[in-house]
Amino acid sequence: MINPKMEAAINKQINEELYSAYLYASMGNYFEGMNLGGFAHWMRLQTDEELAHARKFRDYVYERGGKVVLSEIKAPQSEWKSPLAAFEAAYKHECHISDCINKLVTLAEKESDHASKVFLAWFVEEQVEEEAHADGIVQRMKLAQGAPGALLMMDRELGARGVS
Ligand code: FEO
Repeated sequence: MINPKMEAAINKQINEELYSAYLYASMGNYFEGMNLGGFAHWMRLQTDEELAHARKFRDYVYERGGKVVLSEIKAPQSEWKSPLAAFEAAYKHECHISDCINKLVTLAEKESDHASKVFLAWFVEEQVEEEAHADGIVQRMKLAQGAPGALLMMDRELGARGVS
């Protein structure tokens, strides 16, 4: 049976993951509107990944005999001042999610919930990747310094992202 405090905290995390999906869907729309189809594609796959994260948490709660109650998802921002600003926001958001995951691990330790700790290890690793991907794009965009040619090249490259 799942620890009640962990059940409540994971329910909150499911909302965070669904908000992440919503945020990246919104960023995808922003890029679509700029005719940057490659960036939009990257964001679409990122949205799917976040939905998969929410599902992974959901399945775990039920596997442990708990219950998931979905709550309201806040509306994400819809405009950014530049593609760089959007990816900087994505990186900042991933750092926030890493913080949420770390707090879940701390709770699992406090409650001696070893099963949850083992389950959460996957997310700890995943967040290393999530932060690195977003930050890598931010750093390369900074190098490009807004040069349209470089931006279009990155758009083509991100458009080739496959499902991981
Ligand atoms: Fe589910 Fe991007 O963290």
